Amino acid sequence: MTAKRKKSKKRASAVREDAVPYRTKPNGRAARLKFIDLFCGIGGFRIAFEGVGGECVFSSDWDKFSQQTYEANFGEKPHGDIHTVAVADIPTHDVLCAGFPCQPFSIAGVSKKLSLGRKHGFEDEKQGNLFFEIANILEHHKPAAFVLENVKNLKSHAKGQTFEIIYNTLTDTLGYRVYHKIIDAKSLVPQHRERIFLVGFREPRHFDFPELPKDGPKLGSILDSKVPAKYTLTDHLWNYLQNYAAKHKAAGNGFGFGLVTRKDIARTLSARYFKDGSEILISQGSKKNPRRLTPRECCRLMGYPNSFEIPVSDTQAYKQFGNSVVAPVVSALAEEVSKSLNRPVGFVPDLVLREKQSGSKPSQKNAARKANKYKISKKK
Ligand SMILES: C[S@@+](CC[C@H](N)C(=O)[O-])C[C@H]1O[C@@H](n2cnc3c(N)ncnc32)[C@H](O)[C@@H]1O
Repeated sequence: MTAKRKKSKKRASAVREDAVPYRTKPNGRAARLKFIDLFCGIGGFRIAFEGVGGECVFSSDWDKFSQQTYEANFGEKPHGDIHTVAVADIPTHDVLCAGFPCQPFSIAGVSKKLSLGRKHGFEDEKQGNLFFEIANILEHHKPAAFVLENVKNLKSHAKGQTFEIIYNTLTDTLGYRVYHKIIDAKSLVPQHRERIFLVGFREPRHFDFPELPKDGPKLGSILDSKVPAKYTLTDHLWNYLQNYAAKHKAAGNGFGFGLVTRKDIARTLSARYFKDGSEILISQGSKKNPRRLTPRECCRLMGYPNSFEIPVSDTQAYKQFGNSVVAPVVSALAEEVSKSLNRPVGFVPDLVLREKQSGSKPSQKNAARKANKYKISKKK
């Protein structure tokens, strides 16, 4: 199956100068790393893997508005429902990328489904089996590596059973060596956003998760100075949110809005931000109601470049950024995956041996230097 390509000069991603080329083994000739972008959304994984010199050979997402944004930025309309794609029609690839849908596994998703009397996790027939679509592709194509992303509570879902099934399928059934870690994007963007990443290698390869600094940028780095009045909350909505928060506070619950200034970092941007913006409200002083972030500010909050095209409505844009990965976090991962694939199988770096012997940890200064490479900027 050849992905429909439109001629477009627009690229959301650029290969960094220090990108590590992926090399094929037998003849030693340089070749581009080929990757597939499953549940691609608006292309956070694509930006990251193109940034290390990769070539996307297949993408899929069934949401027509995400397809629009993806096409506007990458010149290619993703294939639709992954259930309708024959595994053999997916091109051969080196790395499988998938930020598979989090609803069946997220606390919000689970509680909503439970309250509606629906099943959840792997029992959810429509969504829960999407992991097995990934497993089928891995089994058929046996790519050298994969990177999967999901919400943090994938690990604790169903008392750890869901994660155990996923992990055992990837390791015992499919034979991959799997590394996993929860990463908080606040090191690279002004947003507390914890996500679990699973990185797997078909051969026994050494892999280090990227070292990221403890302290990252503040909201001032992504906010615009002039914002249209329509983003300021109406008196009605602001009163409602304050009353709602007061009611829950009195009942001993922590629910409420998240009012922040330029000096703060934001709570996690969710796909429901379009509803009332309550999780991230920007203070405009005591004489004015707070405002929501604009879609362009959300774009920067997720670490996407300022040149990223937003061809959809505000509502769709909020949903898309709220569902997405933080692009610079995946860029940092992509670089490490690329490095691992370039090393000989079974390679153990000296540094690891030395650190193991001395028990020392990599310095924060070194981590900060590395993280500078993924910094976002408001300049076009
Ligand atoms: C958590 S989002 C992934 C976002 C993506 N990683 C990004 O950077 O924007 C999950 C995506 O899976 C898509 N999706 C859900 N079920 C699907 C299916 N059966 N086939 C294809 N895409 C699907 C949704 O439309 C959504 O965009």
